[in-house]
Amino acid sequence: MTTLDIGDSLHRGDVLKVLPTIPDASVQVVIADPPYFRVAEADWDRQWKNQEAYLAWTRLWAAECMRVLRPDGLCFIFGQPGKREHVFLHLMSELCRAHQFHDLIIWDRVVGYNERRDSLTPAYEMILVLRGGAQEVRFYKDRVRTPYSPEIIRTYLADKRYKDPVARREHLEKGKFATNILPVPSLKGISKEKVGHPSQKPLALIEKLVLMSTGEGDTVLDPFLGSGTTAVVAQRLGRRCIGIEKDPAYCRMALARIQNEVAVHRKKLPGF
Ligand SMILES: C[S@@+](CC[C@H](N)C(=O)[O-])C[C@H]1O[C@@H](n2cnc3c(N)ncnc32)[C@H](O)[C@@H]1O
Repeated sequence: MTTLDIGDSLHRGDVLKVLPTIPDASVQVVIADPPYFRVAEADWDRQWKNQEAYLAWTRLWAAECMRVLRPDGLCFIFGQPGKREHVFLHLMSELCRAHQFHDLIIWDRVVGYNERRDSLTPAYEMILVLRGGAQEVRFYKDRVRTPYSPEIIRTYLADKRYKDPVARREHLEKGKFATNILPVPSLKGISKEKVGHPSQKPLALIEKLVLMSTGEGDTVLDPFLGSGTTAVVAQRLGRRCIGIEKDPAYCRMALARIQNEVAVHRKKLPGF
């Protein structure tokens, strides 16, 4: 295991070896985008001999993530059923029995993928949200709003029932509360954001999750860091990030992205 000191901590190593080194109740949010189990055409998604082995492995890392999560924190877990595999449905059912269910977010990828001949084109992924043990979790609903179009704003302002048009405009310009269906276009091959990871998530999506669940200075844990999307978002929003990734090439990719982010924002971190 190598720890790279860049202010945040990025661990190159196996999730089950690194997680036990993190203290109890020390992170505000977990953003876990684990291997899906035979969905991606990559070796890291085909490590388990069957579904049972994958589920047994999931139970272990998920329990560790819930141990390190603060009681008022949230744990987001990405997943999607594959063409033949529906293991994420079992995973959700098991995790909801072992831990506290908070929500199920649908990430609407806007554009479909992997056209199938015998069913509709898949266009979403699921994000299971578990909560720590506290009565109340920290959740900043106000920070994730969907803007109204100028046309809608004009129509609403023309409604004579509202006596205070200035207050009404102010209210409308804030946008409406987001629903638990989050439309964020997935990254295409030509996207400027793409750095070469087959399962790279859009910064805009991870940014929404971090904004709704943390405050400045809080710690975000990503146990499957991949290309470093969560670390870049954390850096941008002034959160601390603990990232874990097994593959050295992806670790280098993540580090390069963070270095670039730091350079763009002209911040100075130790080690750069
Ligand atoms: C779905 S991808 C994460 C992509 C990431 N969210 C991004 O935006 O780039 C899952 C990652 O988990 C890593 N991984 C697989 N098994 C692991 C393990 N046992 N420990 C740590 N990382 C692992 C893979 O190398 C892969 O990069």
